[in-house]
Amino acid sequence: MERAACGLSSALRLSLLHGFLFVIAGSGTEAPLDATTLDISSRRFRSEFLQEWPPSADAPYFDAGTPTNITGLVGHPVRLLCRVKNLQNRTVSWVRHRDIHLLTVGRYTYTSDQRFEAQHKPRSEEWALRIRSPQRRDSGQYECQISTTPPIGHAVYLNIVEPETTISGGPELFIQTGSTINLTCVVRHTPEPPTSITWTHGEQVINFDSARGGISLVTEKGLRSTSRLLVQRARGADAGVYTCGPNNAPIAATRVHVLSGEHPAAMQQGCAKTSLDFTLLILSLLLLYLFRYTFNNSPQSS
Ligand SMILES: *[C@@H]1O[C@H](CO)[C@@H](O)[C@H](O)[C@H]1NC(C)=O
Ligand SMILES: *[C@@H]1O[C@H](CO)[C@@H](O)[C@H](O)[C@H]1NC(C)=O
Ligand SMILES: *[C@@H]1O[C@H](CO)[C@@H](O)[C@H](O)[C@H]1NC(C)=O
Repeated sequence: MERAACGLSSALRLSLLHGFLFVIAGSGTEAPLDATTLDISSRRFRSEFLQEWPPSADAPYFDAGTPTNITGLVGHPVRLLCRVKNLQNRTVSWVRHRDIHLLTVGRYTYTSDQRFEAQHKPRSEEWALRIRSPQRRDSGQYECQISTTPPIGHAVYLNIVEPETTISGGPELFIQTGSTINLTCVVRHTPEPPTSITWTHGEQVINFDSARGGISLVTEKGLRSTSRLLVQRARGADAGVYTCGPNNAPIAATRVHVLSGEHPAAMQQGCAKTSLDFTLLILSLLLLYLFRYTFNNSPQSS
């Protein structure tokens, strides 16, 4: 305890000195206290202060390997793990932050929600909270607490995700006639990589051997699977809705518009004209305002 007090006072002195230096640096010279100085002093603080205040010999603590961020899938069991050293006769509890709900105490499950379960093997250091069928709403902060006085806690963030399919480029795609339609479908958060990813155009399933020709598909499966559809030399008949359907994730769709040669030029011209009109409008409003301002502020002539 004495050592701790000594550490505290030296840390206090250090921080006072630090503050003093800061005042000097701030008022006297223009040079700011640089990052290295701050870094060195904070390191010194840590080594002088924190190391001289070790937890008392019999205090429990969380193992450094206790995870702080866990990702789980909707409907698939997930375990929040807490590793505690030197627990002795204290109790480990799991608390949900959202509503300060006590979920488990020691080996007992407290909540009435049947999906939650306390898991602990006798004489092991692991105190787990298992959620049998997690939902999106179970995402959030949880805390593993040790019943010391005051209690100490270790926060764990649980992130429950759902299988997700997206086609990059958004729900509408505009393509020039003759150019390549390039659609990339991304499948994420599936329990295992999809065994198949099927593309359709309108009612038709897209095959390599379709009469259309010039179609290629490249699929890469993994934690994040992608499937790229390339349709070369796009023409009017290639317009329409394309879907990407993995066997184990939702279907994503995008509408492709194939623009014939003249349209984009006409659109650009129209656009340029509108913006010119708009500039003219702003300019005339500005002139009008200036005119009125000068007029109102000129000395009255009576
Ligand atoms: C947890 O990890 C995921 C990715 O694995 C990340 O997106 C998220 O921001 C992390 N959350 C926290 C609170 O660290
Ligand atoms: C744990 O044991 C210590 C003695 O070693 C005792 O003073 C303390 O009250 C006990 N705590 C609990 C929660 O049983
Ligand atoms: C298709 O688009 C992706 C980016 O979305 C790009 O990396 C790739 O090179 C493109 N492929 C072709 C053949 O244009």
